[in-house]
Amino acid sequence: MSQKTVLLIIGGGIAAYKSLLLIRKLQQRNISVRAILTRAGAQFVTPLSVSALTGEKCFTDLFDLTDEAEMGHIELSRAADLIVVAPATADLMAKMAHGLADDLASTCLLATDTDILVVPAMNVRMWHHAATQRNLAHLRQDGVRVVGPDEGEMACGEFGFGRMAEPDEIARAITNYFADTQRGGPLLGKHVLITAGPTHEPIDPVRYLANRSSGLQGYAIAAACAEAGAQVTLISGPTNLTVPEGVDMVRVQTAREMMRACEAALPATVGIFCAAVADYRPKQKAVEKIKKEKGGMGEIKLSENPDILKTIANHPDLRPELVIGFAAETEAIKSHAVTKKKRKNCDWIIANDVSSQSAIVGGVMGGMENQVIFIGGEQGDGKRDPKPESWPPMSKQQVAARLVQKIIDHFG
Ligand code: C5P
Repeated sequence: MSQKTVLLIIGGGIAAYKSLLLIRKLQQRNISVRAILTRAGAQFVTPLSVSALTGEKCFTDLFDLTDEAEMGHIELSRAADLIVVAPATADLMAKMAHGLADDLASTCLLATDTDILVVPAMNVRMWHHAATQRNLAHLRQDGVRVVGPDEGEMACGEFGFGRMAEPDEIARAITNYFADTQRGGPLLGKHVLITAGPTHEPIDPVRYLANRSSGLQGYAIAAACAEAGAQVTLISGPTNLTVPEGVDMVRVQTAREMMRACEAALPATVGIFCAAVADYRPKQKAVEKIKKEKGGMGEIKLSENPDILKTIANHPDLRPELVIGFAAETEAIKSHAVTKKKRKNCDWIIANDVSSQSAIVGGVMGGMENQVIFIGGEQGDGKRDPKPESWPPMSKQQVAARLVQKIIDHFG
């Protein structure tokens, strides 16, 4: 890849220190960085640290006449191959969504036709506020890419979504962007959202409820979609697998985290729900490890988890154009899958036999091979009977390749 330049806009948030690490990570990937520090950003990191790391002047003020003579804000934003806003505060995102331009950062963002990637970082309540979510949806519709935020402890002491993504994750998303734009491929311009792996539902700090899913099938589909040129967001429960090349990864533990991460990743052209989501979670998570001496586990009461596939397939305004579900069954596979397809409102469903009688040696869950029944159907034609196709036993990579070919054919 020829050397690329990123214009990094550092907004005002405690996470700004991570942007300094990001500069290093990008340089290690042969990406040069030029930076703008907003007035609020300069409260958290100094222009001196930024310019020492980028090896260039750090741009801070719209009305600096020397810079305007040397390099106008329009030139500054257009000279970059990608603009990255990190941390993207609620305020910066609101300005972007509404086209405000009252300082150097917002003016550059408005004056450019270069692609933009935002990395939100804010308090959990600000993130979930309807106004921020509206602005986020606006930005996504304008073609802005989004990385994160993560869920976790926040500097303000609260817990939840709003932590800025880690520098490695952001650097990977930036590299993926450059790879996507160079690679081309039949799914270029399509955003594919994929869930994979099991979910872990905590009982106490050390124990959890889970299932045997390895995540292999979902990861193979993610890799095949990326290879076909799609922008891929893989939302994965805990697995031991390596992140496929060219895939933006969101790691979660529980079904509810997976649900929120899927909603945050919308809009997507295609949604593929491969995860073996735990249907139930312990009603309460014990704060301390439950001790045998103190009466042990007793009864674990369960609450139902959200059905992610069904929720996204019935989303009022952001339903992906093509929604694909999986159905792991142990008997009456075809008929259960057909019923499930209707019940969950998905367009296609892929059913597999996870019973001990399955023809796959070693079993499907956790194994390398799969044998599936593919049930398609015409888009928007719920009444027509789907024609099930039984695919022979094959590797999970081959199932992925065949599915991706179907997706490519579907979009013509
Ligand atoms: O109902 P069942 O678990 O058999 O449905 C399987 C399909 O639904 C899979 O595509 C799985 O990823 C999805 N699913 C989900 N959320 C759940 C349960 C299942 O997305 N809570």
